[in-house]
Formats: sequence, C-alpha cells, structure tokens
Amino acid sequence: MSFPATRLRRLRRTKPLRDLVRETELSAEHLVQPLFVTAGEGVREEVDSMPGIDRLSISELVAEATELAAVGVRAVLLFGIPSSKDEAASQAYDDEGVIQMAVRALKEAHPELVVITDVCLCEYSSHGHCGIVRETPGGQMEVDNDMTLELLAKTAISHAAAGADAVAPSDMMDGRVGTIRQQLDEEGFSDTPIVAYSAKYASAFYGPFREAAGSTPEFGDRRGYQMDPANAEEAIREAKLDLEEGADVIMVKPALPYLDVIRRVKDATGAPVAAYHVSGEYSMLKAAAAQGWIDERAAAMESLVAIRRAGADMVITYFAKDAAAWLSRGRA
Ligand code: PBG
Repeated sequence: MSFPATRLRRLRRTKPLRDLVRETELSAEHLVQPLFVTAGEGVREEVDSMPGIDRLSISELVAEATELAAVGVRAVLLFGIPSSKDEAASQAYDDEGVIQMAVRALKEAHPELVVITDVCLCEYSSHGHCGIVRETPGGQMEVDNDMTLELLAKTAISHAAAGADAVAPSDMMDGRVGTIRQQLDEEGFSDTPIVAYSAKYASAFYGPFREAAGSTPEFGDRRGYQMDPANAEEAIREAKLDLEEGADVIMVKPALPYLDVIRRVKDATGAPVAAYHVSGEYSMLKAAAAQGWIDERAAAMESLVAIRRAGADMVITYFAKDAAAWLSRGRA
C-alpha cells in the first residue's frame, strides 16, 4: 500500500492556499476590550499585575475608545471602580455612579461603539462579594441569593437607562437572568440584550482583576456561587437555564483552561457564545514575554484563535487593542 504522504503539506506550503482553507477566522470584529473605569479626573494608572492595562477616569476612557476605534475594536466591556464602597453596594445602581456616567460619556463621544456593562456587586461592596451578605442562623456569613437579585436588576436598569448596549451579569446568583430580563422589560428596555456569564468558574485566574478592581473577598471565597472547575455537564445546564431565562449570549470564563466547555456549550445550545480570556491568562503571557521566554504576539494570537476555534463567537480579552492592531498591520 502506498499513500501520497504530502497530501496535507501541499496546501500548507503556500501561504495563499493556507489562507484559502483556514477554518477559523480571527478578526477585530470578534474582540471585546474590557476596561476599568475609575472615579476622579485625568486618571490613567497602570494595574501592576496587568502591564498595558490602566484604570481610566472618564476623560481618559473616552480617549481610549478613540484609540480602540482606530484599530477596529468595536466593543468594550466596562467595570467600575467606585470612589466609595459599602455593604449595600449602593454605587452599583446609582444613576450618578462611575459606570452610569462613563456610559453616557462614551455613547455621546462614540455612538457607534458597542458598550457592554458588567453587572455585579463585588466591585462596589465593602466585603468584596458578588451579592448581599447576611449572617445565617448558624452564625455563618453567606451571600443571600434572592436579596441580591433585586439589586442586580436595579443595576442593570440604571446601565440601560444610561445607554448601555448590553448588560453582562457576572455574579452567578441563581435566577438573575430571569429577574433582570423581566425588570428590564417592565422598565421599557426590552431591546437591551443580556450577555450572561453562564459558566463562570471559581478560578485562580481572576487574581489580577481583583487587584485592579479591589474586589478580593474580605472573607471566604466565591465557591458558593461560582462553578467547580471539575464540572462541564453543569456548564451546559447553566447555559440552558440562562437561555430559558432570556439570555441572548452565554459566556464561558476563563477561556483557555475551559476550551472543552466552550465547545460543548456551543454544540449543546447553538446559541451565541462569548469566551472571557481573563486577567490571569493575560498576565501570564505578559510576564513570560517580559522575561523573553515567549513571543508575546505569537502566543497571544495563538490563544485567541484557539478560543475562536473552540466555538466562541466573541472573545473578551485584554489583548483586544493589541490584537486588532496586529491584525490590521498584518493585512496592510
Ligand atoms: C466580577 C468579575 C470578576 C471578573 C469579571 N467579573 C472577578 C471575580 O469573579 O472575582 C474576572 C475577570 C478577569 O479576571 O479578567 N464578578
């Protein structure tokens, strides 16, 4: 028996042929840049553990959006760092809160930019948990799921009222998508989509984000509401429930350690899937590149194309701006 040994190599050897048969496309249209918005004036301070990522006050945020638009990034995901935190996370749903003001400023300066807002309480609560904390009869401090739902819905409504194009609840409380959907509809925001963090794992890769947002829990951890990294079937159940409750896009997070989950959720639902390439995934690449141990651009682009190949429609990544610039330079 003899097989033609060069069947696949024939296509690989010539770049235009390689390009013609490429299965997965990575382009700026699929990327979402997460941004940290902080109170104050003229602030641009780098996050120590995330080189290249800054906390931005509103004027700097608008300037950043101009740069993003120039390289072709069309969507951002906003996280707020409020001037003060309290137990009720009241800055999360304040019409004059940092996110509400940021959304208004961004939409005024860049009406075509897709502005997605993170809906969660952890950045706004003094204890750093994603919901309202109360003491159980047994003396344990615990996040109260149902009390939290009302505040999340209030937060989502205030973002939509400020002009957000979509809201992204990241808290992982049970029933939050349904509650937010119902209350958005009642308030006249039935056209505002929900990008639900459906399969959000209790991950060690969020460390740099928590430094950036000052949202490390004061006590306990998030395992009571975020998912066990050992579970994939559960991710499919979460995604299906969120779709039933009215989610428009379902998200898997983090991305690279969970490529199998992205693929399974995509195949099981057929729904639009977002993947969040999180802070720790970014920082690892940055740190290794700073040592000269890996090629930053090549490793970042390989990571992003892998996330798309796994089945993600949109990729939320701190590399969005750089990747879009690399892609447009590659094309020119
Ligand atoms: C808030 C939230 C977190 C991230 C996104 N939204 C942190 C957490 O759950 O502790 C992490 C994103 C990242 O690491 O880039 N609930």
